This record gives sequence, structure tokens and C-alpha cells, in this order.
Amino acid sequence: MQQAIAVLDSGVGGLTVVKEVMRQLPQEKVIYFGDTARSPYGPRSAGEVQTFTRQIVDYLIQFNPKMIVIACNTATAVAIDDIRERVSIPVLGVISPGARAAIKHTRSGIIGVIGTDGTIRSKAYEHALRLISPHIQVYSEACPLLAPLVEKGLFDADRSHEVVEQSLKPLVGKPMDCLILGCTHYPFLTEAISSVMGPNVTLISSADETAREISTILYHRNLLATSGQLPIHQFFCSGEPELFKKIAENWLKEQISITPVVWQVPTII
Ligand code: DGL
Repeated sequence: MQQAIAVLDSGVGGLTVVKEVMRQLPQEKVIYFGDTARSPYGPRSAGEVQTFTRQIVDYLIQFNPKMIVIACNTATAVAIDDIRERVSIPVLGVISPGARAAIKHTRSGIIGVIGTDGTIRSKAYEHALRLISPHIQVYSEACPLLAPLVEKGLFDADRSHEVVEQSLKPLVGKPMDCLILGCTHYPFLTEAISSVMGPNVTLISSADETAREISTILYHRNLLATSGQLPIHQFFCSGEPELFKKIAENWLKEQISITPVVWQVPTII
């Protein structure tokens, strides 16, 4: 059995990373978990997000994946160290790749970051950016309404423009040359975000850099898939599967099958 890359998020957001993995690493099998029953993670406490992330990883580990990708900024911000201690396979989050992509792009050294309440509160992007480049100036803004909009499938520019405009108001006109989409749901809203921020602000999604980093990690560990065959991916979600399937197929441009998962463990909703 081909060992897969296990990818997780609170919902459909991590599919933005999956799409890049499929493009850059077409032979790799992906096992995806969207915790849609408990989405959004953004307003939850760090402890809750850590518990949920642990539960998902415990679930995914039964498939014997070769690597885990926490394709959720909110979970990466508070749970990646804990998960790295629990498993013996490589664990990659999306914050360091996102920070690296922004540093690569910026000329002015002034960077914007948008994310969930949890991510912005954690200051994880400021830390990741300043670890690479100590004098970077960062404007950050929590946009708690955006991920739920995407989960409902309301991400086309017409329907999302007003909420996106309100959410980004504090950042418009700030002298940044790029804006990190610090939530994996936000690439669904690229058109609306771009039109609000204007042509001088480049949007940085961590998906591309994360996929590149997955590729590097697998290459150095001699774990890259080389079967020559196209893999059959597996998708799991803890909430209502129909909308998830519709959004996923529309985004990935391929048919998928979804296995619903009902949490058997005591949980906080
Ligand atoms: N997609 C997630 C992130 O990157 C979480 C969104 C949410 O559940 O609030 O932070």
C-alpha cells in the first residue's frame, strides 16, 4: 500500500494546500481530514484547538502516513510542537512556509498578515517573519468572518466582496507590498481580497511554498512516490459531507469520494 501524505484542517481550507500538492507532486497520495463539525477553529481556545488537532492526528495515523501536514494556520500556531512530540514522522505546518514566501517577495520589508482570531492572537507570523528577518514591519488583522463564509460556499467575488471589504478596512492604504493569507481558507477569496487591497499588494498564500517544502522533505528522506501511477486520494470530514464534497470537487477540479467521520471521543462543540 502506498504511504500517503496526511493533510488536516478545520474544514475545506486545507484543500488550497492539497491542490498545490496534487500539482507539484502528482504521484503522491493524499489523505485529507476536514473537521467541519467543529469548524471554525479561529474563535476557539488554544487548548481546544490542541485537543482537536491531536484527535485528528490520532485518527490519521491509523493509515500509516509518511508525513503530516497541518494545513491550518490556527492549529499550526498552537499545536505543531505538541504533534511533533507525539509522532515519529515529519510534521509540517503552514506558517513558516507562508513567512518564507512573503520574505522572498517583499522589497519594502513591510508585510501585512490576515488570519483567524487564534492565529493573529498567537503572533506566530510575527515570530516566524522576524526569525528570518528581524527588521520586518508587520501589520496584522484578524478577519473572523472570512473562513465561515468559505465553509458555507459563499466565496465568489460578488457574494463575498462586502464582508471582505469590511474585514480588510484597517489594512487598506497601509504601506505594505504583500499580504500573507494567513488562513488556508483565504485563497478561495483571492478575487475579492485582491480587488479590495489593489494592484500594489501581492497576495501570498502558503500553499505553494508548503507543497515545495513537502517535496524537499520527502526527497531528503528518500520517501518520494515513484510508482508512475496516479494515486487515489481519500477524504474524510466530520460534518455534513455534501457541501464539503461540492466545494472540494469545484476547487480541485476532480471527482472525490468522502468518508464521513463521527467523533466517538468526548468533545467540545
Ligand atoms: N483554515 C484555518 C486556518 O488556516 C482555520 C479557519 C478556522 O477554522 O477558523 O487558520
